[in-house]
Amino acid sequence: MNAAKLRRAPMQHKILGSTTLEVSAIGFGCSRIGGISATGRGRGETVRVLHQAQERGINFFDTADAYAQGDSERLLGEAFRGRRDKVILATKGGYLFHDTESAAGSLGRVVGLARRVKQKVESRLLGRKRQFAGQNFAPEYLVSAVERSLRRLNTDYIDLYQLHAPRTEQSRDSEVFETLARLRTAGKVRYFGVGLEALDDVEHWFGHAAVGSIQIPFGLLDLEARNRVLPLAAAKNVGLIARGVYGGGLLKPELSPESLRRMTPKWERIAAFHRIASSAARPIDEIALHYVLQMPEISCVLLGMRTPAHLEENLRCVTRPALDVELVRAIERVDSEIPLKPEA
Ligand SMILES: NC(=O)c1ccc[n+]([C@@H]2O[C@H](COP(=O)([O-])OP(=O)(O)OC[C@H]3O[C@@H](n4cnc5c(N)ncnc54)[C@H](OP(=O)(O)O)[C@@H]3O)[C@@H](O)[C@H]2O)c1
Repeated sequence: MNAAKLRRAPMQHKILGSTTLEVSAIGFGCSRIGGISATGRGRGETVRVLHQAQERGINFFDTADAYAQGDSERLLGEAFRGRRDKVILATKGGYLFHDTESAAGSLGRVVGLARRVKQKVESRLLGRKRQFAGQNFAPEYLVSAVERSLRRLNTDYIDLYQLHAPRTEQSRDSEVFETLARLRTAGKVRYFGVGLEALDDVEHWFGHAAVGSIQIPFGLLDLEARNRVLPLAAAKNVGLIARGVYGGGLLKPELSPESLRRMTPKWERIAAFHRIASSAARPIDEIALHYVLQMPEISCVLLGMRTPAHLEENLRCVTRPALDVELVRAIERVDSEIPLKPEA
């Protein structure tokens, strides 16, 4: 197949669980767009990447109100003005954050960046649960958060509204579900779901018919969901959205074994995947993506794109052939033979 044909290969779509949303196999993760990188010329470039993604078959865009302090949503609103019917917009709420719009122009973005750096440092110190940021899932907060998201996204409806990293308490809180149902009746939200940071209490969220989708970490370096979540999702007809497929950057083809050994306790497992990739003569990122894509329970794989190069690479990977059975077996053998050591 020549390059032009490859580029035009159609994107697969799947229905997201019990919703009527037909989402592209890969979704555009918008957590890294906006803020300081999207000032001046950078802003136009980001909008162009979003347009190219949509024009080349990606219809699912996942953001959150707190990403880039509101600027990620704002960029989507700018990009898809006049194209709203061509995209499925998913956002999240529940985190308290400072919207940079309230501070003036680039000064606001610099303030936002400084806050993000501070939050990153604090999150490292406090562990992976992002305890640095306060959360609020109270009905009045969620209603106002949806209104603000609608304004930033420049739309009058959100296709998928997700609770952002909720705790178990929220899965038992009838007021949360009543609020989401009211937002749905009012036509502001079409479906709702949850975006989980970890699998700690994932089972609790399958008990609600109203939850249309669950976003989970899943990939070669994070296979726990395979036996724990995928069968449950199939049984309950809940759409799964996978993220972290490139292992937070650890599955980049160019990372050498020496640097991986210094970077992560997962290096032995990654080295085994590199060997599998090289015997199959395929790049490791392609294998990582297709391993998750071939799972029927996964409706959409989110990739945290930022640049034209990310988009090109992801479109190239997704159009490559699926993994054969032997390759899948080899991957799953690594999972049982090299258990993951806990992060230091
Ligand atoms: N609780 C939640 O609901 C939650 C939590 C986290 C994320 N998310 C969603 O999931 C999305 C994806 O998150 P993620 O953890 O998979 O990705 P991510 O955090 O955005 O990071 C992607 C990593 O993969 C690397 N990478 C290598 N090749 C890439 C390529 N071709 N395209 C994109 N990245 C590439 C990037 O490195 P370089 O930049 O150096 O190339 C980066 O380190 C987010 O944008 C967000 O929408 C949701």
